Amino acid sequence: MDTCQIAWADSLSVGDGHIDSQHKKLIGLISSISEYIPKPKDKDVMGEAVEYAGTHFGDEEAYMAKIGYPALAAHQTEHKRLAIILMGYKKDFNEGRINMFSFKQFMFLWIRDHIMDTDRKIGEFLRETPESRYGPAE
Ligand SMILES: [Fe+2]
Repeated sequence: MDTCQIAWADSLSVGDGHIDSQHKKLIGLISSISEYIPKPKDKDVMGEAVEYAGTHFGDEEAYMAKIGYPALAAHQTEHKRLAIILMGYKKDFNEGRINMFSFKQFMFLWIRDHIMDTDRKIGEFLRETPESRYGPAE
């Protein structure tokens, strides 16, 4: 697998302060996951990252609904797809057959690509739709 540094970069900004801050937190949680043979405590770190991803997705979906974002349903489908994959990883962890390095890389790359492609469109919508009551934060 192609590897990369798991860290926030300004190039990941979608142009909305609230969404960006949640993405930063999520990437921070992913980067704190152990890359090695999982120990029992790693279950909590992994669980926290997975749980926060769910919280963030719910929040982002509520925000899209609030601003009348037209591609909400397709965006939700992407979130659901990741949630299903993460359930599989949790099962693998519980059964002791997870590769933490692969998990970490997968989760970061998924989030990064999702931000760059799908989440960015929320920021574009806010900029291009002046009638939207909620403009991007700075
Ligand atoms: Fe999203």
